[in-house]
Amino acid sequence: MRILLTGGAGFIGSHTAVAMAQNGHEVVLFDNFTNSDPSVLDRLEKILGFRPIFEEGDIRNYAQMLDVLKRYQIEAVVHFAGLKAVGESVEKPLEYFDNNITGTITLLRAMKDANVKRIIFSSSATVYGTPQYLPLDENHPLSVTNPYGRTKLHVEEILKDLCASDPQWSAVCLRYFNPIGAHESGLIGENPRGIPNNLLPYVARVAAGKMKAVRVFGNDYDTPDGTGVRDYIHVVDLAEGHVCAAAYSQTHTGWIAINLGTGTGYSVLDIIHAYEKACGHSIPYEIVARRAGDVASNYANPQRAFELLGWKARYTLDDMCKHSWNFQKNCE
Ligand code: NAD
Ligand code: WQD
Repeated sequence: MRILLTGGAGFIGSHTAVAMAQNGHEVVLFDNFTNSDPSVLDRLEKILGFRPIFEEGDIRNYAQMLDVLKRYQIEAVVHFAGLKAVGESVEKPLEYFDNNITGTITLLRAMKDANVKRIIFSSSATVYGTPQYLPLDENHPLSVTNPYGRTKLHVEEILKDLCASDPQWSAVCLRYFNPIGAHESGLIGENPRGIPNNLLPYVARVAAGKMKAVRVFGNDYDTPDGTGVRDYIHVVDLAEGHVCAAAYSQTHTGWIAINLGTGTGYSVLDIIHAYEKACGHSIPYEIVARRAGDVASNYANPQRAFELLGWKARYTLDDMCKHSWNFQKNCE
């Protein structure tokens, strides 16, 4: 298929570009580089052996979206583009609503007008709010605790209404758990600007000696070692989940939500220790207060992804840390 990847220069988008291309799809990457860098195109070229097609632009630009969809005769869109920092969304809710909700509506209007009615959307396990039971399946009640989460939930609902309005639409909402790791080559990965918000990039920078110590947010949770438990998933597994979702969308219309997680939870200390193994030295950490809004545990029931997509995560936590470290060593 000819597939447009909005946010294709980002962390998950760039890995998905590789997986899609290696599975025979023609990909067009679209990005405004608000949270990525043009150098990712050089690195994708090294991995793929050819330079992927790239269009620089903003999903909020209707005319440009329509032009790109028509010019490349796009058959499906994988929609990654958006802002993703929970804390920043609390400070700047309007920017998040504009980018993530208005941007998606603009994209959908252009898709409708170009008669492209297949979309795979980057949703998030954040739509489950505070878990009422574990593991989280797709029927778990939905709720949100911050503007970022609200944008994911709203877009899911917008897609549901769109599918109800026209039986030709296919919308697959992939609810990601905690994507980490990097491509095996060490050429692409996650290298956030400034101080990382998420655990893995923070651990990676401490391991590289760029930051002093990992701050562990609380060790008094109701978990085996008292630190928070999450479902970390290798970004390459996640990317392959999109290849399976694209195949599914070719034969299925309507709306569906599907978890992409491993089904296994690891604690913050498990992560630090696995990373120590990967980098070959100890990683200093200190226990500090809980972070507001964090839950004790959160992990997926990934059964639906297996049943509908034939997809299952294959990488281990050690792989995730090893590949993250390969990439980290290449970062300036
Ligand atoms: P990322 O920031 O690395 O990638 C997003 C890309 O979208 C960036 O390259 C950015 O420049 C681009 N972008 C942002 N706004 C744009 C706009 N208006 N027009 C064009 N391009 C724009 O983030 P990621 O980790 O790759 O996440 C991809 C998607 O997955 C996001 O929608 C995110 O909310 C969602 N998600 C991420 C995680 C995670 O932990 N990484 C978890 C669940 C869901
Ligand atoms: C993981 C664990 C922290 C940093 C977030 C978003 C979620 C989704 C994925 C997009 C927790 C602990 C963290 C640190 C720590 N994104 N931690 N020290 O919070 O599970 O999920 O990213 O959709 O919406 O909320 O991920 O990596 O921030 O935290 O101890 O410096 O690590 O308390 O237990 P989280 P995270």
